[in-house]
Amino acid sequence: MPVSDTRPILLFDSGVGGLSVLGPVRALIPAAPIVYAADSAGFPYGTKTEAEIAARVPALLGRLVERYRPRLIVIACNTASTIALPEIRAALDLPVVGTVPAIKPAALVSKSRVIGVLGTAGTVRQRYVDKLSAEFAADCTVLRHGSDALVKAAEAKLRGEAVDPAVYERELAALSGQPGGERLDTVVLACTHFPLVQEELAAAAPQLLQFVDGGAGIARRVAVLTEGQEWPSEPGPGLAVFTSDTPANQALAPGLAARGLARIEVL
Ligand code: DGL
Repeated sequence: MPVSDTRPILLFDSGVGGLSVLGPVRALIPAAPIVYAADSAGFPYGTKTEAEIAARVPALLGRLVERYRPRLIVIACNTASTIALPEIRAALDLPVVGTVPAIKPAALVSKSRVIGVLGTAGTVRQRYVDKLSAEFAADCTVLRHGSDALVKAAEAKLRGEAVDPAVYERELAALSGQPGGERLDTVVLACTHFPLVQEELAAAAPQLLQFVDGGAGIARRVAVLTEGQEWPSEPGPGLAVFTSDTPANQALAPGLAARGLARIEVL
């Protein structure tokens, strides 16, 4: 009789952004049972203070761990990762994979040596972004823009709502309009919501841009940390967990089901 370890991988974000990480994780580890947790009651994170994030996220993850007993947690959120990863790791007794703005891979591919970091306001103001820029992109001009509007646009898209394309133009212009921005050739999508609207961003860009995000790297890290572990022969449908019960959850249901999250629960 095959023994199987049914403990899931728990992906965590404020909203649907972590779905851009779920895709690469599923592609690498198709047998993994998935619990996808969206802190809809705390959404959005990008406009919160550091203190609010550091107080909220570790406590919430503690409740999620108690309920779903995951083998590993992916903080599929740049804002929570760049602000509170040490506090999260200290609060939990299991492996935690965080999300790092993909400045290093962007610096590897930029020809013009002008990189844009598009994240939430909470992420782009972190010293961690200074540190990554100094360490991996010292010969680049690194422009930054914090965008709450793109987070909202990604959520609306996943709910099946139409989004005014002017939003994408405006948010990109806030990067490329900065000094040196006319040479911008690479944009780091430093919020997990943004790969969900990458096509729209590309279509709205006044110049040819390459977009880089951390999804594939996170999936590789998860695969390394779970190497040799058993998985159930049938992982079953994934579970989406929200922290509030709102009509928006139902509007998201088809988009979640299309990504293998056929069940929805409220924490
Ligand atoms: N998806 C999140 C991130 O990667 C946060 C979006 C938000 O809630 O503002 O930063």
